[in-house]
Amino acid sequence: VSFPPDTALARVDELADPCAIVVRSETDFYASLIVTRRGDHIAAFRNKCPHAGYPLQRADGRIVVQEGRYMVCGGHGASFTLDDGACAGGPCNGDGLERVAIIIRDGAIYIA
Ligand code: FES
Repeated sequence: VSFPPDTALARVDELADPCAIVVRSETDFYASLIVTRRGDHIAAFRNKCPHAGYPLQRADGRIVVQEGRYMVCGGHGASFTLDDGACAGGPCNGDGLERVAIIIRDGAIYIA
């Protein structure tokens, strides 16, 4: 696993509402996760689009959030819900993001 246990991915109070951010592994340059927030709902996903396997961020490192509830892949525009990563349109063709289980402890988000 590229994210050692007990590594905080982010602090809840640092997450904009809504947001989808990229969290990079400190031990594996190529590994990253997506952490999303919409209201009180926080989730994490593998940063790998089911369309062609790209990470979702654009060249500037950001993931586009649309209508307050979708994240859009910078590759070819597939969109996924912030809440559960389900395909919401575009070339994901019904395939969603792979969810990563998290726990929130003392205001920080950890892989479960
Ligand atoms: S790789 Fe994400 S839409 Fe193509």
